[in-house]
Amino acid sequence: MAKTKTAFFCQNCGTQFAKWAGQCTACKEWNTIVEEVVQKEEKPDWKPIMNGGPKSATTVNISEINTDDDVRYDLKDQEFNRVLGGGLVPGSMVLLGGEPGIGKSTLLLQIALRLPYKTLYVSGEESLKQIKMRAQRLHPDSENCYILTETKTQLIFRQIREVSPDIVVIDSIQTLHSEYIESSAGSISQIRECTAELIRFAKETGTPVILVGHITKDGTIAGPKILEHMVDTVLQFEGDRNYMYRILRALKNRFGSTAELGIYEMQGDGLREVSNPSEILISKYDEALSGTAIVATLEGMRPLLIEIQALVSTAVYGTPQRTATGFNAKRLNMLLAVLEKRAGFKLGAKDVFLNITGGISVDDPAIDLGVVAAVLSSNSDIPLEKGVCFAAEIGLAGEVRPVRRIDQRILEAEKLGFTRIFVSKNNKIGLKKHNILISKVSKIEDVIRELFG
Ligand code: TYD
Ligand code: MG
Repeated sequence: MAKTKTAFFCQNCGTQFAKWAGQCTACKEWNTIVEEVVQKEEKPDWKPIMNGGPKSATTVNISEINTDDDVRYDLKDQEFNRVLGGGLVPGSMVLLGGEPGIGKSTLLLQIALRLPYKTLYVSGEESLKQIKMRAQRLHPDSENCYILTETKTQLIFRQIREVSPDIVVIDSIQTLHSEYIESSAGSISQIRECTAELIRFAKETGTPVILVGHITKDGTIAGPKILEHMVDTVLQFEGDRNYMYRILRALKNRFGSTAELGIYEMQGDGLREVSNPSEILISKYDEALSGTAIVATLEGMRPLLIEIQALVSTAVYGTPQRTATGFNAKRLNMLLAVLEKRAGFKLGAKDVFLNITGGISVDDPAIDLGVVAAVLSSNSDIPLEKGVCFAAEIGLAGEVRPVRRIDQRILEAEKLGFTRIFVSKNNKIGLKKHNILISKVSKIEDVIRELFG
């Protein structure tokens, strides 16, 4: 007779082990290895299947599956809708992660208050009065929002049965507690079990569930990595707490692209959707300042104009400092080396500080040329001409390289009133009509000649 087969799995990263150990060798977490049954004792037999056996789902041709009545819920928030891929899919499970205080509860409560659908907002973190006080600031009159302060999943499901909401929001998964598991709320097995219960509920009833998840110091969603595999969509809410802007992005999305991005501004009465992000990211000075350059970047599918500021000064200490905020420091070093070699700038004895304004960070290579322009402008203390912006990558040989979706970048720059954009000579531009001067350059030296004469 076959024996029950078990194996040991790390509850954090899912690695399989032959025997128990105190620490997972893969993810270095302590006390996460648990024995699990991988094969039940009784082997499957053909007989019950031949005799009708257990009921199973039937196979259908994909062309016969009807999705017409599966309309997505419009969340009345264009940024959130877009990041989800066009609204909330019925029966889906969305995980919203973010650092404490970034505005997760604010965002979800604000959405819940404005929805025309019956929404149940379950909070394990705040009291009814606290939620009401926040709600009054966000949206004083709301008819469809129900609040529940409860952490036991079984009791939450009982309330759900009574209220029968269209959408359920859980704030947060780390506060939930299932009776079927011994350990305390926030532990890995609790998080796993509660998520599994909620997923079953979502799939069986077709009610979408939005879960809030906290983030650990290293920026991952607290709890097992498995949590991210279980849910349909993982969203991250990020931004510097000291700045007003918040960015919502999809890290995983079964129902849409992960390239989309939503931008919000935190205000006294909640989060405002920012439909034209370039405006807020570019500082408005009438006189041109040296050391700043505007670049046309892409965040997701969206073109975005951002400002780069550089400060080049004589190094006081032996080794020059290179500091980059919002930009990869290694890439900055590379660009400086290219400048030294190709353009003869002696930056070796200079401190270079680079900052992307607005507290955002960018890894789009298309901002290279703008970084170089800002550094050169600061070094020579000559402001760049007004209305000029950049969109090109720089190679090690000092060549100006093409970037993707150049037409979109050019259009966005034109829309915002820029008069000239520097792009690579090798970039194919499909635009027929435009009101912006497109300066095509092939080498870093060309750019320097054009800008600084
Ligand atoms: P919160 O939603 O509680 O964060 P999380 O749930 O991610 O931990 O966000 C709280 C922060 O937002 C807090 O620092 C105050 C600020 N805030 C505003 O600036 N304006 C507002 O209208 C609200 C409700 C909060
Ligand atoms: Mg909160």
